[in-house]
Amino acid sequence: MNASEEHLPTPRPAWIAGRAEQSAQTLPVNHPYDGDEVATVCVPNADQVERAVTAAVEVAHELRTTPAHVRAAALDHVSRSLAERADEVAEMITAENGKPLRWATVEVSRAVSTFRFAAEEARRFSGELQRLDTDPNGVGRMAVTRRVPRGPVLGIAPFNFPLNLVAHKVAPAVAVGAPIIVKPAPRTPLSALLLGELFAETDLPAGAISVLVLGNEETAALVGDPRLPIVSFTGSGPVGWSLMDAAPRKQVVLELGGNGAAVVCADWPDLDFAASRIATFGNYQAGQSCIAVQRVIVERAVADEFVPKLLDKVGALRTGDPHDPDVEVGPLVDESAAERVVAWVEEAVASGASLLAGGKRDRATVEPTVLSDVPLDSKVWRDEVFGPVLAISVVSDVDEAFAQVNDSDYGLQAGVFTRDVQVAFRARAELDVGGVIVGDVPSFRADQMPYGGSKGSGVGREGLRSAMADFTEERVMVLTGLEL
Ligand code: SIN
Repeated sequence: MNASEEHLPTPRPAWIAGRAEQSAQTLPVNHPYDGDEVATVCVPNADQVERAVTAAVEVAHELRTTPAHVRAAALDHVSRSLAERADEVAEMITAENGKPLRWATVEVSRAVSTFRFAAEEARRFSGELQRLDTDPNGVGRMAVTRRVPRGPVLGIAPFNFPLNLVAHKVAPAVAVGAPIIVKPAPRTPLSALLLGELFAETDLPAGAISVLVLGNEETAALVGDPRLPIVSFTGSGPVGWSLMDAAPRKQVVLELGGNGAAVVCADWPDLDFAASRIATFGNYQAGQSCIAVQRVIVERAVADEFVPKLLDKVGALRTGDPHDPDVEVGPLVDESAAERVVAWVEEAVASGASLLAGGKRDRATVEPTVLSDVPLDSKVWRDEVFGPVLAISVVSDVDEAFAQVNDSDYGLQAGVFTRDVQVAFRARAELDVGGVIVGDVPSFRADQMPYGGSKGSGVGREGLRSAMADFTEERVMVLTGLEL
């Protein structure tokens, strides 16, 4: 080794069954804003992958029977460590993902909560007693039902929340006592590898957690591996549904995309607030959130007042270097994503949409963009833009607004700005989405609540309790000869 090589940072190790391991193959991680290399990570070889899977299978029984206080303590340790290292972890997220530091900081604090909620749920995770003497053949009998893990989990996470969406795979798995193999997005693996390191500091048995940065082919092999009966995937629709087709006998949980709609009803009293929330959450993380606002559906009675307010708020957003604490809108994950977003905007304009703001890009950064009069068959309306683009539609009434929300292949969350309780209940009854946020944008997510989609947005739910249900199945024990 020569002197300069001596000072090269060591590639971040893979976590194989709780142990840090180097490998010959490495992958660079580049900062989306300027392309600088921020780290290299180890890509595990076939033997390392096999050892991770074998260890997960071998530890499954031990982990399932590990006392709740041990699993809860491990989750609390990770939560506390992230809180203690919050600034460093936020910097890491910004470096790998390009989201502005202010949003990376929010992500860290959400992950702190996600692990803490999981610890709380792990302590509560009990069972149910059911008397069976409600029927003559059940006299003297009692059912004791517990949920048990279906087996080791394969968690496949996306780039847009490199810490908290990994947390939503790992935390519920640990809470129920299921081993997990995490496959982070290759562009943003650093936060997931840090979680591997933090869990290695706990008393969980080795084999409980592996973090493997893998390519598509190796991941596909794991999806097909019958030893991993649960696949929890967050990412794009085409990939998600193809995983389900590839593993029809597995428990496959899919958190896919969306084209989030915010409906501004005529009764909403504070159009400044609505405009500010929509501007912020159409552009947070450069629109790279499945519940970012994309479609803005405004009742005609307030449109003339609302649209200029929205343009003012969008125009005030600061774009630039995501490490600058004042910057609100950073780059997309890479330049090709930015090219695609701008091409979709241009296509909408060519087919009749009006460009009210933005529309251009500088490398991977796209200007916050607002369109109106968008043809309802254009990509920026129908598909998931995953970029900082808001498309406005003006409608006559709530009926038309709700019809437009539902006229989508997706159904993740919708926001309805109304004070009218009848409209709120109608929204919940009529909108084909996993969540309706009344009085705010679709982008609101509390990490303990059920989160997931209808239609093309996926199957299953995250949120600790919901994911714990997805990762487990009921097992009943009947006791006989009892005096009830
Ligand atoms: C997602 O993009 O699906 C996650 C959104 C969030 O956790 O806020």
